[in-house]
Amino acid sequence: MYDTDGRKYLDGVSSLWVTTFGHRTPEIDAAIIAQLGKLDHSTFLGATHTPGIELAEKLLALTPGLDKVFYAGDGSSAVEAGLKIAYQYSVQSGQPRPLFVHLSEAYHGDTLGAVSVGGMKLFHATYRPLLLKTATVGSPGLRAPGQTPVERAAEVIKELEAVMAAQGDQVCAIVLEPMVQAAAGMLTYDASFLRAARELATKYGALLMVDEVATGIARTGPMWAHQHAGITPDLLTCGKGITAGYLPLSAVLATDEVYSAFLGAPEKTFFHGHTYTANPLACAAANANLTLAVERDLPGQVAVLGARLADLLKPVGDRDSVVEIRQLGAMIGVEVANVRHRTGFEVCRAARKRGVWLRPLGDTVILMPPLTLGEAEQNLMVEALAEAIDEVVR
Ligand SMILES: Cc1ncc(COP(=O)(O)O)c(C=O)c1O
Repeated sequence: MYDTDGRKYLDGVSSLWVTTFGHRTPEIDAAIIAQLGKLDHSTFLGATHTPGIELAEKLLALTPGLDKVFYAGDGSSAVEAGLKIAYQYSVQSGQPRPLFVHLSEAYHGDTLGAVSVGGMKLFHATYRPLLLKTATVGSPGLRAPGQTPVERAAEVIKELEAVMAAQGDQVCAIVLEPMVQAAAGMLTYDASFLRAARELATKYGALLMVDEVATGIARTGPMWAHQHAGITPDLLTCGKGITAGYLPLSAVLATDEVYSAFLGAPEKTFFHGHTYTANPLACAAANANLTLAVERDLPGQVAVLGARLADLLKPVGDRDSVVEIRQLGAMIGVEVANVRHRTGFEVCRAARKRGVWLRPLGDTVILMPPLTLGEAEQNLMVEALAEAIDEVVR
């Protein structure tokens, strides 16, 4: 990317965790232009169109166990739709369940439903009086010193069991970010937690909704992060990377079981839709992106990228100035020691002087590069980070 003075930057955060193959991917540019020659926009309310159908087929082919697609506009609006689907599913299955279970430190977007299932004090505390009914369990990614990921997962599983035992018949969905709580600073957690959440949701008749807005499209390795745990959710939200960052588009994927609760009387319809839902240009971008993801074996590439970045980052992690490096695939958080006001921000500013664009979440510097980043650029990104840390954190 180039700034207004013509200085060149490597985008180390994929814009906002969206860019798949780097900016201006020729195949995606061409797909949008081709779609523009056919249809600009057409409502999805009571209608459909070819790129929307094609995209639903592509998404479902990548997601064994899920059968239907409902489009929305961005990550937050997919989460809103998912929450409403979960509640309406409970109503239409014979027992209204007004409660959502979610994790502390969670982030699902900035609209009020998404904030309700969020758990970040700084972003969410102000709005508490306005929000949906929820029960919160601890973050499986926040470990005490010396505690292993498996031990921490076991602790939070106990909490979740207790919540479900007490209120499970009121819970319509357990909502979580699978494997990585991204906005909290890339808090990674053990897959055993996800498997237990699946089991407990089933045991108490609640749905499991995984929010793959950040983790989807191979960011963590497999196409979806929940696949690390070998589970199938009932609902999956995705957004961000599905269009490779070209245009806003998101979706909720659901099982046939959930979908079938909306069939029958007209009042059972899911009365929810946005003007720009499934915009054809956005669908065309997503179709081209997903075609390339499969053709170029994106999960395989991310496995290689993640392993090489882990190696490069080892000496960074050995520094006293670095508290911890958390990584799953190409989602990386480098937590630096808090030595001054806004240390993470200062580190990113120092990296920018070295031609690398990074963003902090508190004192955690995020590395979330395009998934096909070349080796020379990987070296540049990690060297700039290391030098920036050495400059700022003494
Ligand atoms: C897990 C998760 N869900 C939802 C969202 C919200 O997406 P959007 O910013 O597109 O509304 C985000 C954004 O970072 C996210 O990380």
